[in-house]
Amino acid sequence: MRGTVERGWQVPLIWAAVGTVLGVVLVLVTTAVTAVVNDPDALEPGEIVVLSGRDDSIGGQRQVLVNQWNELHPGNRARIVELSGLADAQRAEMLARAQSGRGEVDVLNLDVTWTAEFAEAGYIRSLDESRVRTGGFLDKPLATCRYGGRLWALPFNTDAGLLYYRPDLVAGPPLTWDGLERDVVEARARPGNTADGYAGQLADYEGLTVNALELVAGSADEPLAGEDGVLDLDGHETALVSGLERLRTIAPAGVPDLDETRSIELFRSGRALFMRNWPVAYRSLAQDGEGGPGVPFDVALLPAGTAVLGGQNLAVSADSRRPRAAQALVEFLTNERSQQILFERGGLPATRAVVYHDQAVRDRYPYVTTLAEAVDRAVLRPAEPHYARFSEVFRTAVDGYLRRGAQLPADLADQLAAARQGRLTPVDGE
Ligand code: GLC
Repeated sequence: MRGTVERGWQVPLIWAAVGTVLGVVLVLVTTAVTAVVNDPDALEPGEIVVLSGRDDSIGGQRQVLVNQWNELHPGNRARIVELSGLADAQRAEMLARAQSGRGEVDVLNLDVTWTAEFAEAGYIRSLDESRVRTGGFLDKPLATCRYGGRLWALPFNTDAGLLYYRPDLVAGPPLTWDGLERDVVEARARPGNTADGYAGQLADYEGLTVNALELVAGSADEPLAGEDGVLDLDGHETALVSGLERLRTIAPAGVPDLDETRSIELFRSGRALFMRNWPVAYRSLAQDGEGGPGVPFDVALLPAGTAVLGGQNLAVSADSRRPRAAQALVEFLTNERSQQILFERGGLPATRAVVYHDQAVRDRYPYVTTLAEAVDRAVLRPAEPHYARFSEVFRTAVDGYLRRGAQLPADLADQLAAARQGRLTPVDGE
């Protein structure tokens, strides 16, 4: 009897204990789940995958920032999947992954010219401007994040073409394209001269589009960009022809297949009088390269300040399973502190105005004021869903003209207009 009585007490006790434990577990699980479901700010747990072009910053500063984020957010560690260094290859790869719809990518590091295309195709999510602080970004880089009245990304780094020159071989930076052409022609005539021409990005890829547009903008009598800062070639055939003629004259002999890296190598080796490149090239040149410190150089605005704006913007992938965590990472990578690190340590142009006003930055890198002016005056490439096709048609014509002595197609303007609308050939009568 005693035993039965004792067991009778024990059974309810065990069930009570089990019940309590289950209850606690249930409360904990429910709290965690409702936190993510109900709290609009809670970050969904799990890894964040970032698709990005090659990190050209000195010392891999993008990864440094991601490492810092990971230390602060162990439940949302981020991983960069690095793609090619060439803009066109990056775009093709990003499109392929976005089209697969597998939800494997959370953040896309888009070139400034792809916002419209990715937004229109539904591959990225728009950001709720009432919840994202956009004050403090430079105007033009931020403008490249907008399309159709919505904000689709935040600017990670900006870019604007700069002129690198040899202070030991030219009296100073030419202020006009005529002046630059004269310097090139005079140097060629000098006995023993080996520093030939203007080393731009002349290979057949997006870099050629950018370089050619800068020359065309520099040959126009009036600004080719309207109030929105966007370049428009319509009706500017004369500037188009004279800009490209000049590019053919000033290009180094044989119009070498240069991308950003090879331009630096050519200039550093002393074989180019001028180089057109992005601001990060300054730090590469300032570092001792293979075989020694390279040539003396200085940097200035492109003649007449006709630089094209470049840069990369961080967008949240439409099929990300962690959109809030992805957006939090984007905000972290574009905040003032991250932007200062990217420029100070890595040489990538910051998208936040405050970095350009920091006295310590100005003292250490006096060229930052030139850089700020270049970005401020830069013109934007068209912000359209079919920009890539426009660029391809344009630079194919430029490539034939520069390298193969081909004439520019008589109907180039029509071809470009058709390309901007996503068509291959102009429709009769247009
Ligand atoms: C740089 C610029 C980018 C441009 C590319 C062209 O990466 O930031 O905007 O499209 O160069 O090569």
